[in-house]
Amino acid sequence: MPAISASAPGKIILFGEHAVVYSRPAIAVPVLQVKAKAIVRADPHAKPGTVSIEAPDINLKTHQSELPPSHPLNAAVSGVFSALNLTRPPACKLRITSTIPIAAGMGSGAAVSVAIIRALSAFWGKSLPDEQVSAIAYEVEKIYHGTPSGIDNNVIAFAMPVYFIRGQPIETFRVPQPFTIVIGDTGVESSTATTVGDLRKAWQTNPDHYEHLFDKVAGIVRAARAAIEAGRPEAIGPLMTRNHELLQQMDVSSADLETLVRAAQQAGALGAKLSGGGRGGNMITLVDDQRTSEVVAALREAGATNVIVTRIQERYN
Ligand code: PMV
Repeated sequence: MPAISASAPGKIILFGEHAVVYSRPAIAVPVLQVKAKAIVRADPHAKPGTVSIEAPDINLKTHQSELPPSHPLNAAVSGVFSALNLTRPPACKLRITSTIPIAAGMGSGAAVSVAIIRALSAFWGKSLPDEQVSAIAYEVEKIYHGTPSGIDNNVIAFAMPVYFIRGQPIETFRVPQPFTIVIGDTGVESSTATTVGDLRKAWQTNPDHYEHLFDKVAGIVRAARAAIEAGRPEAIGPLMTRNHELLQQMDVSSADLETLVRAAQQAGALGAKLSGGGRGGNMITLVDDQRTSEVVAALREAGATNVIVTRIQERYN
């Protein structure tokens, strides 16, 4: 049986992180410059049902059965067993690699899950539809994040721009005028479960205040979608900056993120904000195409450990 491979892109949240956990809308887009990849090969010498796992990026070489059920990689593999109703499928070796920075708001966990689910289900003879891939990856996201909104698994499984409201079917939207986003990495790993948990505690002590902030974010997300659909992507610059201010008020920014956001603005970006869980990880900035190289240089100068230039468009294949 030939080796089967599958990959899944990274993602960024353009608008609405954190508020999306509280059922406000958010917009996310795939980032194809980075990806997770899973390769599955038959293991003819091993007993049926055996899945050996190799993930060199995290120094892991083991068997699925040796990982606790709560381990995300085990959960992704088990999710495929259940979805396909398998108990002892042909043994295989699963190798996972990823160029998506870990704990940086780019969806590395969800992308690894999606790649594994696709590769294993294809290997065992039944490729799953995107909805089901996303649903299994969502179960794994709960292990990583506790109370995930579901935005990561959706944008990554469907690999197209999404307008997402928790618990509702995803909506895609038109992007008649593609635009450029520069992504700057602080190089600081930050746990989304922690920022989401801290914000939940703050919300519990003062729900009215935070509900008000989330409502303001929702207004920004709706305005951003309208501007993108109307072919006026430049109008989302000030909305990004406004969304960032609200994220500051939720206490999920950090000194490193502020440094990069300021550097982008000073280099002439049209708007900038943190993206994802915050307190580290990545920030994003909207740039005019003529100014891209200045903004990239300014981010590097200000200490970004990695910079990605990505084009946002309606379809990626
Ligand atoms: O995986 P991250 O860091 O992009 O965070 C996801 C965005 C949050 O809104 C903070 C959490 C969630 O589950 O939506």
